[in-house]
Amino acid sequence: MNKQDFTRRDFLQAACIGVGALSVSTSSANVLNSSKSDQNKSGLPSCDVLVIGSGGSGLRAAVAARKQNPNLSVVVATKMMPSRNATCMAEGGINGVTKFDDGDSYKLHAYDTIKGSAYLADQDNVLKFCELAGKTIAELDYVGTLFSRSDDGKVAQRMMGGASKRRCNFSADKTGHIIMHSALDDAITNGVKFLVDHEMLDIGVKDGKVDGVVLRNIQTGDITPVLCKVLVIATGGYARIYYNRTSNPYITTGDGVAAALRAGIGFMDPEMIQFHPTGVSNGGALITEAARGEGGYLINNKGERFMKNYHERAELAPRDIVARAIETEIREGRGYGEGMGAYVLVDVRHLGKETIMKKLPKIRHTGLLFEDVDLVEKPVPIRPTAHYSMGGIEVVKFDDMSTKVAGIYTCGEASCVSIHGANRLGGNSLTDAMVTGKLAGDGAAIYAKDVSFGDGAITSELAQKWQAKFKEIANGQGNVSYMYKLREELGKLNWDNMGIFRTGDKLQALLKALDDIEARYNKIRIPDTNSVMNTAFTDYVELGNMILVSRAACLAAIARTESRGAHTREDYPKRDDVNFLKHSIVTLKDNKLEISYRDVVLAGFSLDGRKPE
Ligand code: FUM
Repeated sequence: MNKQDFTRRDFLQAACIGVGALSVSTSSANVLNSSKSDQNKSGLPSCDVLVIGSGGSGLRAAVAARKQNPNLSVVVATKMMPSRNATCMAEGGINGVTKFDDGDSYKLHAYDTIKGSAYLADQDNVLKFCELAGKTIAELDYVGTLFSRSDDGKVAQRMMGGASKRRCNFSADKTGHIIMHSALDDAITNGVKFLVDHEMLDIGVKDGKVDGVVLRNIQTGDITPVLCKVLVIATGGYARIYYNRTSNPYITTGDGVAAALRAGIGFMDPEMIQFHPTGVSNGGALITEAARGEGGYLINNKGERFMKNYHERAELAPRDIVARAIETEIREGRGYGEGMGAYVLVDVRHLGKETIMKKLPKIRHTGLLFEDVDLVEKPVPIRPTAHYSMGGIEVVKFDDMSTKVAGIYTCGEASCVSIHGANRLGGNSLTDAMVTGKLAGDGAAIYAKDVSFGDGAITSELAQKWQAKFKEIANGQGNVSYMYKLREELGKLNWDNMGIFRTGDKLQALLKALDDIEARYNKIRIPDTNSVMNTAFTDYVELGNMILVSRAACLAAIARTESRGAHTREDYPKRDDVNFLKHSIVTLKDNKLEISYRDVVLAGFSLDGRKPE
């Protein structure tokens, strides 16, 4: 092949491997030889650091692990192509203070984040996070991320909701997409290997320490135990439980969170799910908050800019407030359309075509694609859409993103280290992916240095169970449309009963309905017995995970009898700091979900909106 024929696809393909390429012992000569301090005596495939998920945080973790220790074998397993992930859905930018001349500071960023979180964020972690955020922007710039530039040549910044200063660094309205591709190039360049089309089915844990994971190759159907010294779970969130109305890709079904629950790790603040104010009316794809950050308006059917009636910062209020305002307009008859099709409008026409094409080209495309509306000429129909999971896998230490199981780390949206509390600010998700990804990767590499592989017994046993399960479920009977209808039903139930406005009655009704959904799930059988590309089995696994995650979120939402951030209880409309300044932790014991609580960590920020000195 001559030089000019070498494409980006070749570049990626060169990094893709199969499970067969993983070392089966430390002595075998192999491209992925593990570091020599360990002993993999099991004969099972293994690698030092296994990252599950190839979004921004997973890729950042993998790069950090390799940079920390280039002798480690670092493998990313991903359900799809590495470039297909929810990171691309964070469009508007990445928060991080890089200029201090306008009075901005890490502490002010932390203040905005804590206030925006409705005071559920752990303040110590937020302070550390905001300091690392500024440094992250410099790192991203250094590795060649294609940021938009201001006239002085610096990385361009814009306002986002809930921010008191302009600190959201951006690449037009494709920031997540651009960052993710830089991270992918960086990962390949740094020798990270990829298992594409591999889903994680379960995690093997022995004596409080990770043993390995069960991976299913979606292409071949092979179900294999894979040992690792360290596992990094970077599987993203679970907003697909709102199947019918979400900005998330099809794959964000909470697989990592569900597997962590089954492995004995807590699911923290599962009830905290963000509804982004502006998803297109048809289905919920994102119209970035940057549309409002750049000066766009929200308009009701009376032609009014209604946000002025709800918050002094109008369209730039935090997301939970804007989402509730839009739903209120619709409920009170000031929207357009009806039922799931109801909407209000976002209007950016006054920004002019030149600004739109320079700063918001992606959402122009989205408007044309989903609504057949050119937002240069007409306002676009929008409504809130399930967008982000503030809740996630419980982290016990921010500094390395470790969980309570030795050797299991997590990062990005899959994790909950309580930076976002009950409501995440726009622009903080990409920062989270990059900051926590690096911390988890560094932590994983340091831990991997002195640890040995497990014996693989528990992971092999789990793999056998899944092999048997495939035979039981994909048995040539059944009807797949039954399964897909069930998935649609689950999405609608969650939207109707655990959406923007919640009540105890609705949540109890959901819990009951979930029993019924689960009973029907247990009857699913797949008519295709072929293991090759049996995507129906993947969908089956995902649906099971979504039911478990929905149940955990519903339990925590029932128990939280207050309103805080994205969790709005109409029967308990006030924030209750006396009883609920605490995190919900849901765990799975003997196949039953249990709930406990942990106090929010305070570190000097007042709980009444006062700015720090
Ligand atoms: O609206 C947006 O561009 C989304 C950004 C984010 O979720 O941080």
